Amino acid sequence: LLVDKGNHRHFMEKEIHEQPEVISHTLAHYLDFAQGGIRELEMPFDFAAIDRLSVSACGTAYLAGLIGKYWFERYARLPVDIDIASEFRYREMPLSPMSAALFVSQSGETADTLASLRYCKSAGVPIGSIVNVRDSTIARESDGIFPTLAGPEIGVASTKAFTCQLSIFAALAVRAAIERKTVSAEESARLVRALSEAPRFASLALKVEERIEEIARELAQVHHVLYLGRDTNYPLAMEGALKLKEISYIHAEGYAAGELKHGPIALIDKQMPVIVIAPHDRIFDKTVSNMQEVAARGGRIILITDSEGAARASLDGIQTIIMPTVPEFIAPIIYAIPVQMLAYHTAVVMGTDVDQPRNLAKSVTVE
Ligand code: G6P
Repeated sequence: LLVDKGNHRHFMEKEIHEQPEVISHTLAHYLDFAQGGIRELEMPFDFAAIDRLSVSACGTAYLAGLIGKYWFERYARLPVDIDIASEFRYREMPLSPMSAALFVSQSGETADTLASLRYCKSAGVPIGSIVNVRDSTIARESDGIFPTLAGPEIGVASTKAFTCQLSIFAALAVRAAIERKTVSAEESARLVRALSEAPRFASLALKVEERIEEIARELAQVHHVLYLGRDTNYPLAMEGALKLKEISYIHAEGYAAGELKHGPIALIDKQMPVIVIAPHDRIFDKTVSNMQEVAARGGRIILITDSEGAARASLDGIQTIIMPTVPEFIAPIIYAIPVQMLAYHTAVVMGTDVDQPRNLAKSVTVE
Protein backbone atom coordinates (compact mmCIF):
# COMPACT_ATOMS: atom_id res chain seq x y z
CA LEU A 1 0.00 0.00 0.00
CA LEU A 2 1.58 3.23 -1.11
CA VAL A 3 0.43 6.07 1.08
CA ASP A 4 2.83 8.75 2.19
CA LYS A 5 2.70 11.44 4.83
CA GLY A 6 3.04 14.30 2.36
CA ASN A 7 4.12 17.40 4.27
CA HIS A 8 2.95 16.04 7.59
CA ARG A 9 5.08 14.78 10.47
CA HIS A 10 2.79 11.85 11.15
CA PHE A 11 0.03 9.96 9.40
CA MET A 12 -2.26 10.95 12.25
CA GLU A 13 -1.69 14.63 11.52
CA LYS A 14 -2.31 14.05 7.83
CA GLU A 15 -5.46 12.08 8.53
CA ILE A 16 -6.82 14.77 10.88
CA HIS A 17 -6.29 17.35 8.13
CA GLU A 18 -7.93 15.20 5.47
CA GLN A 19 -11.26 15.24 7.30
CA PRO A 20 -13.04 18.04 5.43
CA GLU A 21 -12.34 16.21 2.19
CA VAL A 22 -13.15 12.65 3.28
CA ILE A 23 -16.30 13.69 5.15
CA SER A 24 -17.43 15.43 1.96
CA HIS A 25 -16.58 12.37 -0.09
CA THR A 26 -18.46 10.08 2.29
CA LEU A 27 -21.51 12.33 2.53
CA ALA A 28 -21.74 12.58 -1.26
CA HIS A 29 -22.47 8.86 -1.25
CA TYR A 30 -25.45 9.28 1.09
CA LEU A 31 -26.79 12.79 0.55
CA ASP A 32 -28.32 14.26 -2.52
CA PHE A 33 -26.87 17.76 -2.13
CA ALA A 34 -28.87 19.17 -5.06
CA GLN A 35 -32.27 17.91 -3.87
CA GLY A 36 -31.47 18.38 -0.19
CA GLY A 37 -32.40 14.77 0.58
CA ILE A 38 -30.92 11.36 1.37
CA ARG A 39 -30.17 9.10 -1.57
CA GLU A 40 -32.06 5.86 -2.09
CA LEU A 41 -29.69 3.38 -0.50
CA GLU A 42 -29.50 -0.33 -0.97
CA MET A 43 -30.62 -1.34 2.49
CA PRO A 44 -30.09 -4.69 4.23
CA PHE A 45 -33.24 -3.95 6.29
CA ASP A 46 -36.19 -1.62 6.30
CA PHE A 47 -36.08 1.11 8.97
CA ALA A 48 -39.88 1.33 9.03
CA ALA A 49 -40.24 -2.39 9.73
CA ILE A 50 -37.84 -2.81 12.66
CA ASP A 51 -38.46 -2.03 16.31
CA ARG A 52 -34.84 -2.07 17.54
CA LEU A 53 -31.39 -1.64 16.15
CA SER A 54 -28.48 -3.33 17.79
CA VAL A 55 -25.08 -1.74 17.22
CA SER A 56 -21.73 -3.21 18.25
CA ALA A 57 -18.14 -2.26 17.68
CA CYS A 58 -14.80 -1.77 19.46
CA GLY A 59 -12.73 1.25 20.43
CA THR A 60 -13.36 4.46 18.56
CA ALA A 61 -15.90 2.77 16.28
CA TYR A 62 -17.93 1.88 19.39
CA LEU A 63 -17.96 5.54 20.41
CA ALA A 64 -19.24 6.49 16.94
CA GLY A 65 -22.07 4.02 17.54
CA LEU A 66 -22.85 5.60 20.89
CA ILE A 67 -23.33 8.98 19.22
CA GLY A 68 -25.41 7.25 16.53
CA LYS A 69 -27.72 5.96 19.26
CA TYR A 70 -28.56 9.52 20.34
CA TRP A 71 -29.41 10.46 16.75
CA PHE A 72 -31.48 7.37 15.90
CA GLU A 73 -33.48 7.66 19.09
CA ARG A 74 -33.96 11.42 18.93
CA TYR A 75 -34.88 11.83 15.28
CA ALA A 76 -36.15 8.40 14.16
CA ARG A 77 -37.60 7.28 17.53
CA LEU A 78 -35.80 4.00 16.94
CA PRO A 79 -34.43 2.36 20.12
CA VAL A 80 -30.78 1.39 19.78
CA ASP A 81 -28.86 -1.11 21.87
CA ILE A 82 -25.20 -0.30 21.74
CA ASP A 83 -22.53 -2.69 22.93
CA ILE A 84 -18.82 -3.16 23.05
CA ALA A 85 -18.42 -6.14 20.73
CA SER A 86 -16.37 -8.21 23.20
CA GLU A 87 -19.29 -7.95 25.64
CA PHE A 88 -22.04 -8.42 23.09
CA ARG A 89 -20.62 -11.65 21.72
CA TYR A 90 -20.95 -13.44 25.07
CA ARG A 91 -23.83 -11.75 26.78
CA GLU A 92 -26.51 -13.82 25.08
CA MET A 93 -28.76 -10.91 24.30
CA PRO A 94 -32.23 -11.89 23.10
CA LEU A 95 -32.70 -10.56 19.58
CA SER A 96 -36.18 -9.66 18.43
CA PRO A 97 -37.21 -10.96 15.00
CA MET A 98 -38.10 -7.36 14.21
CA SER A 99 -34.63 -6.07 14.93
CA ALA A 100 -31.62 -5.40 12.75
CA ALA A 101 -27.92 -5.26 13.57
CA LEU A 102 -25.31 -2.73 12.58
CA PHE A 103 -21.56 -3.21 13.00
CA VAL A 104 -18.99 -0.46 12.81
CA SER A 105 -15.37 -1.14 11.92
CA GLN A 106 -12.68 0.80 10.13
CA SER A 107 -10.67 -2.32 9.23
CA GLY A 108 -13.60 -4.70 8.91
CA GLU A 109 -11.40 -7.34 10.55
CA THR A 110 -11.75 -6.80 14.31
CA ALA A 111 -12.22 -10.27 15.82
CA ASP A 112 -14.79 -9.34 18.48
CA THR A 113 -16.89 -7.31 16.05
CA LEU A 114 -16.85 -10.16 13.56
CA ALA A 115 -17.88 -12.65 16.26
CA SER A 116 -20.81 -10.38 17.20
CA LEU A 117 -21.84 -10.22 13.57
CA ARG A 118 -21.83 -14.01 13.35
CA TYR A 119 -23.91 -14.25 16.54
CA CYS A 120 -26.57 -12.01 14.97
CA LYS A 121 -26.37 -13.89 11.71
CA SER A 122 -27.05 -17.20 13.40
CA ALA A 123 -30.11 -15.59 15.03
CA GLY A 124 -31.38 -14.64 11.57
CA VAL A 125 -31.13 -10.88 12.13
CA PRO A 126 -30.40 -8.78 9.01
CA ILE A 127 -26.95 -7.23 9.11
CA GLY A 128 -25.52 -3.96 7.93
CA SER A 129 -22.01 -2.71 8.50
CA ILE A 130 -20.24 0.63 8.39
CA VAL A 131 -16.77 -0.26 7.14
CA ASN A 132 -13.82 1.56 5.66
CA VAL A 133 -12.26 -1.48 3.98
CA ARG A 134 -14.72 -2.69 1.39
CA ASP A 135 -13.29 -6.14 0.80
CA SER A 136 -12.92 -6.95 4.49
CA THR A 137 -14.40 -9.98 6.24
CA ILE A 138 -17.05 -7.92 8.05
CA ALA A 139 -18.10 -6.30 4.77
CA ARG A 140 -18.28 -9.68 3.01
CA GLU A 141 -20.36 -11.30 5.73
CA SER A 142 -22.88 -8.44 5.99
CA ASP A 143 -26.17 -8.32 4.11
CA GLY A 144 -25.42 -4.73 3.17
CA ILE A 145 -22.58 -2.29 3.70
CA PHE A 146 -22.40 1.44 4.30
CA PRO A 147 -18.89 2.37 3.18
CA THR A 148 -16.95 5.18 4.82
CA LEU A 149 -14.92 6.74 2.04
CA ALA A 150 -12.10 7.83 4.36
CA GLY A 151 -9.30 6.25 2.30
CA PRO A 152 -6.57 4.20 3.97
CA GLU A 153 -6.09 5.09 7.63
CA ILE A 154 -2.53 4.35 8.77
CA GLY A 155 -2.25 6.02 12.20
CA VAL A 156 -3.18 3.45 14.85
CA ALA A 157 -5.47 5.95 16.58
CA SER A 158 -8.55 6.32 14.40
CA THR A 159 -9.44 9.88 13.35
CA LYS A 160 -10.87 10.35 9.87
CA ALA A 161 -12.62 6.97 9.92
CA PHE A 162 -14.43 8.13 13.09
CA THR A 163 -15.84 11.34 11.62
CA CYS A 164 -16.84 9.46 8.46
CA GLN A 165 -18.61 6.83 10.60
CA LEU A 166 -20.41 9.67 12.38
CA SER A 167 -21.40 11.22 9.05
CA ILE A 168 -22.99 7.93 8.01
CA PHE A 169 -24.79 7.51 11.33
CA ALA A 170 -26.19 11.03 10.91
CA ALA A 171 -27.33 10.34 7.35
CA LEU A 172 -28.86 6.98 8.31
CA ALA A 173 -30.67 8.52 11.27
CA VAL A 174 -32.28 11.09 8.96
CA ARG A 175 -33.10 8.34 6.44
CA ALA A 176 -34.71 6.30 9.26
CA ALA A 177 -36.61 9.37 10.48
CA ILE A 178 -38.04 9.95 7.01
CA GLU A 179 -39.02 6.30 6.57
CA ARG A 180 -40.53 6.07 10.03
CA LYS A 181 -42.28 9.41 9.49
CA THR A 182 -40.98 10.83 12.74
CA VAL A 183 -39.84 14.15 11.26
CA SER A 184 -41.61 16.63 9.02
CA ALA A 185 -40.33 17.35 5.52
CA GLU A 186 -39.03 20.73 6.74
CA GLU A 187 -37.23 19.12 9.66
CA SER A 188 -35.55 16.47 7.51
CA ALA A 189 -34.52 19.12 4.98
CA ARG A 190 -33.07 21.18 7.83
CA LEU A 191 -31.08 18.16 9.11
CA VAL A 192 -29.76 17.34 5.64
CA ARG A 193 -28.76 20.96 5.15
CA ALA A 194 -26.89 20.95 8.45
CA LEU A 195 -25.14 17.70 7.59
CA SER A 196 -24.12 18.89 4.15
CA GLU A 197 -22.32 21.78 5.85
CA ALA A 198 -20.14 19.41 7.88
CA PRO A 199 -17.15 19.54 5.48
CA ARG A 200 -17.08 23.34 5.56
CA PHE A 201 -17.28 23.45 9.36
CA ALA A 202 -14.61 20.74 9.59
CA SER A 203 -12.26 23.06 7.66
CA LEU A 204 -13.04 25.90 10.06
CA ALA A 205 -12.44 23.60 13.03
CA LEU A 206 -8.90 22.89 11.81
CA LYS A 207 -8.14 26.58 12.26
CA VAL A 208 -8.12 26.27 16.06
CA GLU A 209 -4.90 24.25 15.82
CA GLU A 210 -2.56 26.99 17.10
CA ARG A 211 -4.66 27.45 20.22
CA ILE A 212 -4.68 23.68 20.69
CA GLU A 213 -0.88 23.61 20.50
CA GLU A 214 -0.66 26.14 23.36
CA ILE A 215 -2.98 24.07 25.53
CA ALA A 216 -1.19 20.85 24.57
CA ARG A 217 2.11 22.20 25.95
CA GLU A 218 0.41 22.49 29.35
CA LEU A 219 -1.39 19.15 29.12
CA ALA A 220 1.90 17.41 28.48
CA GLN A 221 2.90 18.35 32.07
CA VAL A 222 0.06 16.54 33.84
CA HIS A 223 -0.62 12.93 34.80
CA HIS A 224 -4.41 12.83 34.77
CA VAL A 225 -7.09 14.52 32.68
CA LEU A 226 -10.87 14.41 32.95
CA TYR A 227 -13.10 15.01 29.90
CA LEU A 228 -16.74 15.97 30.35
CA GLY A 229 -19.64 16.32 27.94
CA ARG A 230 -23.41 15.90 27.76
CA ASP A 231 -25.65 14.25 25.18
CA THR A 232 -23.73 13.56 21.94
CA ASN A 233 -20.70 15.28 23.46
CA TYR A 234 -20.53 12.66 26.19
CA PRO A 235 -19.26 9.91 23.85
CA LEU A 236 -16.92 12.56 22.47
CA ALA A 237 -15.56 13.12 25.99
CA MET A 238 -14.81 9.38 26.10
CA GLU A 239 -13.20 9.60 22.66
CA GLY A 240 -11.01 12.49 23.84
CA ALA A 241 -9.88 10.46 26.84
CA LEU A 242 -9.27 7.38 24.70
CA LYS A 243 -7.18 9.31 22.19
CA LEU A 244 -5.08 10.98 24.90
CA LYS A 245 -4.39 7.66 26.64
CA GLU A 246 -3.57 5.88 23.41
CA ILE A 247 -0.98 8.22 22.04
CA SER A 248 0.33 10.39 24.90
CA TYR A 249 0.05 7.73 27.67
CA ILE A 250 -1.51 10.33 29.98
CA HIS A 251 -4.25 8.81 32.09
CA ALA A 252 -7.61 10.26 31.08
CA GLU A 253 -11.26 9.54 31.71
CA GLY A 254 -14.34 10.66 29.84
CA TYR A 255 -17.50 11.18 31.84
CA ALA A 256 -21.04 12.40 31.33
CA ALA A 257 -20.94 15.90 32.86
CA GLY A 258 -23.97 15.15 35.04
CA GLU A 259 -22.20 12.14 36.52
CA LEU A 260 -19.34 14.29 37.87
CA LYS A 261 -20.95 14.50 41.31
CA HIS A 262 -21.20 10.71 41.52
CA GLY A 263 -17.49 10.08 41.69
CA PRO A 264 -14.94 11.94 39.59
CA ILE A 265 -15.48 15.21 41.48
CA ALA A 266 -13.41 13.61 44.26
CA LEU A 267 -10.39 13.79 41.94
CA ILE A 268 -10.59 17.53 41.34
CA ASP A 269 -7.68 19.60 42.63
CA LYS A 270 -5.47 22.37 41.24
CA GLN A 271 -3.43 19.90 39.22
CA MET A 272 -6.30 18.22 37.43
CA PRO A 273 -7.30 19.69 34.07
CA VAL A 274 -10.94 19.18 33.17
CA ILE A 275 -11.67 19.43 29.47
CA VAL A 276 -15.29 20.32 28.86
CA ILE A 277 -16.78 19.79 25.40
CA ALA A 278 -19.80 22.07 25.28
CA PRO A 279 -21.07 23.98 22.27
CA HIS A 280 -23.76 26.50 23.20
CA ASP A 281 -26.79 24.23 22.84
CA ARG A 282 -30.05 23.30 24.60
CA ILE A 283 -28.28 21.90 27.62
CA PHE A 284 -25.29 24.20 27.77
CA ASP A 285 -26.42 25.78 31.05
CA LYS A 286 -26.46 22.36 32.71
CA THR A 287 -22.85 21.86 31.73
CA VAL A 288 -21.96 25.34 33.02
CA SER A 289 -23.23 24.36 36.43
CA ASN A 290 -20.94 21.30 36.33
CA MET A 291 -18.05 23.60 35.44
CA GLN A 292 -18.90 25.78 38.42
CA GLU A 293 -18.61 22.71 40.64
CA VAL A 294 -15.12 22.12 39.23
CA ALA A 295 -14.12 25.80 39.55
CA ALA A 296 -15.32 25.91 43.18
CA ARG A 297 -12.84 23.13 43.98
CA GLY A 298 -9.93 24.86 42.32
CA GLY A 299 -9.99 22.66 39.18
CA ARG A 300 -8.50 23.89 35.90
CA ILE A 301 -11.11 24.12 33.17
CA ILE A 302 -10.39 23.96 29.47
CA LEU A 303 -13.65 24.64 27.67
CA ILE A 304 -14.14 23.73 24.01
CA THR A 305 -17.10 25.81 22.92
CA ASP A 306 -18.28 28.49 20.48
CA SER A 307 -18.23 32.26 20.96
CA GLU A 308 -21.70 32.33 22.54
CA GLY A 309 -20.69 29.58 24.97
CA ALA A 310 -17.47 31.38 25.85
CA ALA A 311 -19.37 34.60 26.57
CA ARG A 312 -21.80 32.83 28.88
CA ALA A 313 -19.29 30.74 30.79
CA SER A 314 -17.00 33.42 32.12
CA LEU A 315 -15.56 31.68 35.12
CA ASP A 316 -12.28 32.74 36.71
CA GLY A 317 -9.21 31.15 35.24
CA ILE A 318 -11.07 29.22 32.55
CA GLN A 319 -9.22 28.56 29.29
CA THR A 320 -11.26 28.37 26.11
CA ILE A 321 -10.85 26.88 22.68
CA ILE A 322 -13.29 28.78 20.51
CA MET A 323 -14.91 26.82 17.71
CA PRO A 324 -17.09 28.03 14.86
CA THR A 325 -20.81 28.13 15.66
CA VAL A 326 -22.26 24.95 14.16
CA PRO A 327 -25.75 23.43 13.92
CA GLU A 328 -26.39 21.30 17.01
CA PHE A 329 -27.05 18.16 14.94
CA ILE A 330 -23.53 17.99 13.52
CA ALA A 331 -21.64 19.33 16.55
CA PRO A 332 -20.04 15.99 17.53
CA ILE A 333 -18.61 15.54 14.01
CA ILE A 334 -16.99 18.97 14.13
CA TYR A 335 -15.93 18.93 17.80
CA ALA A 336 -14.17 15.59 17.21
CA ILE A 337 -11.48 17.58 15.41
CA PRO A 338 -10.15 19.73 18.30
CA VAL A 339 -10.42 16.66 20.53
CA GLN A 340 -8.17 14.69 18.14
CA MET A 341 -5.75 17.61 17.71
CA LEU A 342 -5.42 18.03 21.46
CA ALA A 343 -4.34 14.40 21.86
CA TYR A 344 -2.08 14.63 18.82
CA HIS A 345 -0.23 17.78 19.90
CA THR A 346 0.12 16.59 23.48
CA ALA A 347 1.71 13.37 22.19
CA VAL A 348 4.03 15.39 19.93
CA VAL A 349 5.18 17.45 22.95
CA MET A 350 5.70 14.23 24.92
CA GLY A 351 7.70 12.77 22.03
CA THR A 352 5.82 9.49 21.82
CA ASP A 353 5.52 7.35 18.71
CA VAL A 354 2.25 8.90 17.56
CA ASP A 355 1.46 6.61 14.64
CA GLN A 356 2.59 3.41 16.36
CA PRO A 357 1.85 3.83 20.07
CA ARG A 358 3.23 1.16 22.37
CA ASN A 359 1.17 -2.00 22.96
CA LEU A 360 -1.50 -1.07 20.40
CA ALA A 361 -2.36 -2.48 16.99
CA LYS A 362 -4.25 -0.84 14.16
CA SER A 363 -6.48 -3.80 13.74
CA VAL A 364 -7.08 -6.42 16.41
CA THR A 365 -7.77 -9.67 14.62
CA VAL A 366 -7.34 -11.92 17.64
CA GLU A 367 -9.56 -12.07 20.67
C1 G6P B 1 -7.93 -0.76 17.54
C2 G6P B 1 -7.51 0.62 17.03
C3 G6P B 1 -8.62 1.64 17.25
C4 G6P B 1 -9.92 1.15 16.65
C5 G6P B 1 -10.30 -0.25 17.16
C6 G6P B 1 -11.45 -0.85 16.37
O1 G6P B 1 -8.01 -0.73 18.93
O2 G6P B 1 -6.33 1.05 17.67
O3 G6P B 1 -8.27 2.89 16.66
O4 G6P B 1 -10.95 2.05 16.95
O5 G6P B 1 -9.20 -1.14 17.00
O6 G6P B 1 -11.00 -1.10 15.07
P1 G6P B 1 -11.95 -1.24 13.82
O7 G6P B 1 -11.02 -1.51 12.66
O8 G6P B 1 -12.89 -2.37 14.08
O9 G6P B 1 -12.68 0.06 13.67
